[in-house]
Amino acid sequence: MTESNELKGVGAEEYDLNKLAFPYYDDFQRAIADLVVQHDLQLDKRSKIIDLGVGTGDTSKAVLQHEGLTKLVNLTCVDFDPVLIKQAKRKLLPYQNRANHVNFICKRAEEYFPTLKENSVDVIFSALTLHNHPPGTRKRIYQEASRVLNEEGILVLGDKFASRIPRDHLNEMTRMIMGYLHLLEIGRRDVFEYWIRHNLRDDQPDLQMTRSCRTTSEIMNSGFYGGAWFETGDGDPNPWGMDQILVAYKSQKGFWKVRRGMGEKK
Ligand SMILES: C[S@@+](CC[C@H](N)C(=O)[O-])C[C@H]1O[C@@H](n2cnc3c(N)ncnc32)[C@H](O)[C@@H]1O
Repeated sequence: MTESNELKGVGAEEYDLNKLAFPYYDDFQRAIADLVVQHDLQLDKRSKIIDLGVGTGDTSKAVLQHEGLTKLVNLTCVDFDPVLIKQAKRKLLPYQNRANHVNFICKRAEEYFPTLKENSVDVIFSALTLHNHPPGTRKRIYQEASRVLNEEGILVLGDKFASRIPRDHLNEMTRMIMGYLHLLEIGRRDVFEYWIRHNLRDDQPDLQMTRSCRTTSEIMNSGFYGGAWFETGDGDPNPWGMDQILVAYKSQKGFWKVRRGMGEKK
């Protein structure tokens, strides 16, 4: 049975060093926050949002410091690792006044979501978290996410999705490894080796997530109406490599509400 490829040792303790390999890291977090805030603005009530896999808190920070966030959201940050929760609490402290309430749950999402009522959450967002899990665990999490989301709710999934075109995927992997060379420049061979091994494991076929209709089908087979890839531009190579965003809509009504908010006509 495939095991999850979870963060360990220096990967968890010094997670923020990982960012040195990704020059677009802040833009990626910001794009996830844009989608969360855009959705929040369309709700006529204080929304309940969840960060699945808060890590050191960068995605939640991008949401809380977003200039478009005009309502006081209720934010729940979920992570099973106390080492990461501790770092997130420290990082998010200066932004607590941007929310009605921020709370931290030290549990696995697949254990926490079943404790929530149906139709009780407006947005679940998750960055760089679910690719660490085998498809069976991901499916359980998608199913629970769709159960707890409101009818108009969305799941914003920013994660590592490999290209299905072998030449493009080879380029993505090469660029990623080149990015990690910065860790050698600052004398952190230990962290470099950790991330190379970790990423090569993520890329094995039993864990790898892909930018493909297989991924959108997984979403739709788990109770969502559909999924749409966020456009990152026409750069060649793709400016964010494997890091891409998929938005999953709980219902058709929610899909059109969000798309209309983005200026599309039905
Ligand atoms: C790679 S970090 C990403 C953190 C953050 N979202 C970011 O983009 O910087 C993934 C985090 O998700 C947590 N995580 C992984 N699987 C999880 C699960 N099933 N439930 C809750 N947390 C999970 C890990 O402990 C880790 O802190």
